[in-house]
Amino acid sequence: MSTGWDAAADLVVVGSGVAGLTAALDASAAGLRVVVVTKDAVDSGSTRWAQGGVAVVVGDIPGDTVAAHVADTLTAGAGLCDPDAVASILRDGPAAVVRLRARGAVFDPGPGGRLARTREGGHSAFRVVHAGGDATGAEVERALVAAAGGLAVLTGHVAVDAVRDVRGHVTGLAVLDDAGNPGVLRAPAVLLATGGYGQLYSSTTNPETSTGDGIALALRAGATAADLEFVQFHPTVLYVEDPLAGSRISAAPAIGQRPLVTEAVRGEGAVLLDRAGTRFMEGVHPLADLAPRDVVAAAITRRMIETGADCMYLDARTLGDFARRFPTVFAACRAAGIDPVREPIPVTPAAHYSCGGVVTDVHGRTRVPGLYAAGEVARTGLHGANRLASNSLLEGLVVGARAAAAVVADRPAFRDGAALAPSPAVPLAPRAVVQRAMTGAASIGRDGPGLAGASDAIEAATTVGVPVDRAGIEDAALTLLGRAVLAAAGERTESRGCHLRTDFPDRDDVWQRRSLEIALDATGRPVVQTKEYVA
Ligand code: SIN
Repeated sequence: MSTGWDAAADLVVVGSGVAGLTAALDASAAGLRVVVVTKDAVDSGSTRWAQGGVAVVVGDIPGDTVAAHVADTLTAGAGLCDPDAVASILRDGPAAVVRLRARGAVFDPGPGGRLARTREGGHSAFRVVHAGGDATGAEVERALVAAAGGLAVLTGHVAVDAVRDVRGHVTGLAVLDDAGNPGVLRAPAVLLATGGYGQLYSSTTNPETSTGDGIALALRAGATAADLEFVQFHPTVLYVEDPLAGSRISAAPAIGQRPLVTEAVRGEGAVLLDRAGTRFMEGVHPLADLAPRDVVAAAITRRMIETGADCMYLDARTLGDFARRFPTVFAACRAAGIDPVREPIPVTPAAHYSCGGVVTDVHGRTRVPGLYAAGEVARTGLHGANRLASNSLLEGLVVGARAAAAVVADRPAFRDGAALAPSPAVPLAPRAVVQRAMTGAASIGRDGPGLAGASDAIEAATTVGVPVDRAGIEDAALTLLGRAVLAAAGERTESRGCHLRTDFPDRDDVWQRRSLEIALDATGRPVVQTKEYVA
């Protein structure tokens, strides 16, 4: 790629959600020249879609402790969390929320001058603070965007590749600007805060920006990713009319970004029913409808298969004042012609969160000098095999701030003029082929032959090309992520967390504390390696 334009900064942040803007604000306050690059509008990422809230123990709820939050996170993570990372990140949660409120975020008030709390799957206490009822992400994003008013934010700019020097250290970022012109932002530090890869699947809660760009970029820059097989499916996503079919509830799968029905609805008393009106979570798990999300999503999928139904139902009719407490869910239901006050809400699972990502320490450092990652794009060890609800905004706040501090502390040497040109040609498959293959074989319930077949389908459609625009860069990222997820999911011959193999239905202790790491070989193909963690 020719480098048409050239600019310089101390830190380039890619992505403008909770982790990216938190890092950008902190780094700017520390005196760094910061440029934020975001491929769409500033608030187009997944942060603003988060509903439930921020899981945090502030110390004002009798009986709840950070230790209990840690224990719940480790249980949900099914033996693959890094306990030190969990303790470290959760411990800093309260201070992160204080800083966010100082930046203008307004959380819902509760009794006695405290913040209101809700509960979600896998939590042993009411500890999730929320805003606008069920619009927490929207409020967090609003506050951070407002606070970032003075920062240089390049909207409509697409990150192409990291620029590196002969030692492999990052020295900048190759970018396509909003007119499609290539340029380079020279900087000794690049922070990826690009979110996850929900768009690998046909049906997802994620916006169209969630195409795994940051993970693909990091892998091409020589970084390692891990735990990519753990794609979390949210159990309750509104199942709405397929506009092409006549009925409200259609046999055709709902596709594209789907409206979330927050777990907090179950946290406040709603229960899951099958088509016959029978509760089916009792007996599946001691927490029943409030079991960790992997358990609930798998149980819904099983019940749908057993009964031949297209969806299950969430009965929230006993909740008081639904429209006030859950205005976002209420509006989505009403737009689909459903009245949650009078009828159960039709729901199915859909792809929601990438538990793995670019391997970093708890300060956002990847293994490539000068390259940092924070938020959903990163794998700190907090989530393990299944993220605990509402730990994601918290991780973005805590690790976003820490990454800014790490950049300041590291002060990577500026290596102007020693850049190696990034390789412009990458494997590319059509997005529809990748999504079809992943949805069919790598959703909830995978098996060896299915994963191999999906891999064959993607390989048969893959060519090598040079992406020239945002769509091409996203397709390349999805192709790489599809290959990587399939490789890891094929290797992990057990069921754990949100990786459910129908041909290996049990958890296997051989895999306890074992992560699968992905790096690229010289041809750009993902190679899987086992990483043993010390218990
Ligand atoms: C939800 O509100 O159910 C989603 C929250 C999350 O993904 O953490």
